[in-house]
Amino acid sequence: MPPRKIIIDTDPGQDDAVAILLALASPEDVTVLGVTAVAGNVPLPLTQKNALIVCELANMPDTKVYAGCDAPLARKLVTAEHVHGKTGLDGPQMDAPTMQLQAEHAVDYIIDTLREHEAGTVTLCPLGPLTNIAKAFQKAPDIVEKVQEIVLMGGAYFEVGNITPAAEFNIYVDPEAAKIVFDAGVPLVVMPLDVTHQALTTRARVDAFRALGTKVGDMVAAWTDFFERFDKEKYGSEGAPLHDPCVIAYLIDPTLFSGRQVNVEIETRSELTLGMTVADWWRVTDRKPNAMFMGTLNADGFFALLTERLARL
Ligand code: RIB
Ligand code: CA
Repeated sequence: MPPRKIIIDTDPGQDDAVAILLALASPEDVTVLGVTAVAGNVPLPLTQKNALIVCELANMPDTKVYAGCDAPLARKLVTAEHVHGKTGLDGPQMDAPTMQLQAEHAVDYIIDTLREHEAGTVTLCPLGPLTNIAKAFQKAPDIVEKVQEIVLMGGAYFEVGNITPAAEFNIYVDPEAAKIVFDAGVPLVVMPLDVTHQALTTRARVDAFRALGTKVGDMVAAWTDFFERFDKEKYGSEGAPLHDPCVIAYLIDPTLFSGRQVNVEIETRSELTLGMTVADWWRVTDRKPNAMFMGTLNADGFFALLTERLARL
């Protein structure tokens, strides 16, 4: 099977960073056509800079990185420095990047790439708010049918919200964008908190990163040491949930996950439940299923894969 061609749309964030490293370490499974930055965990100037930092950490300075939207489609940006720190990559000291951003806007890059490649051969991997993807679909509706699949991290059902009682951060930041993407009719695989909260960086798993004895292993361990304090305090969990790497792990080994093809709608009107992913998990409506909504993860298999691939960098 040839490697999947992907565009990673991201708001680094420590967990985004690990996802990008996993993708760049797995050329037999994924070809990263480009990385597009979006405002989310921290403002765009930082997410674009962090994307460059991570590509350089992977020693892949030829990776093409594009800056995208600096605010949601119709709302003020909400960020998550309380989770990721002021820089978005708090934990270890990071050198400023030397590689440059591409000149093209991320939204135009997404449009051009989908138009250039054979239809059905490019997968979009959003790891942050869906603003760039939605804007591309609005600006160039012809590209929607060209997308092979969207595999995204976002939403929650049984786990409910992490930024409000009802909503997960990526969807909450830009619910209008999420509605456009979930309603677009593109084959959709969703990694909600229901499954990412099973990907916890326990002490033994973080020690395995450090035991790699590489700069990448040390950085990932230091990021998770920083990133886990929020979830440990809030959930009393045994580590940080590595949300975004679940998207890339799915592309490498989908058998690590299981879920259901169900209908998922996005709340965009109620202030109380804004950004909620209303998943018809029990199929109590006749709404058309539009997403493979994941519910379980083989966590040991996930971390074994992640650690083995990070060791390559
Ligand atoms: O809710 C978790 C998601 O929000 C992750 O993608 C994390 O990086 C933040 O973007
Ligand atoms: Ca993210």
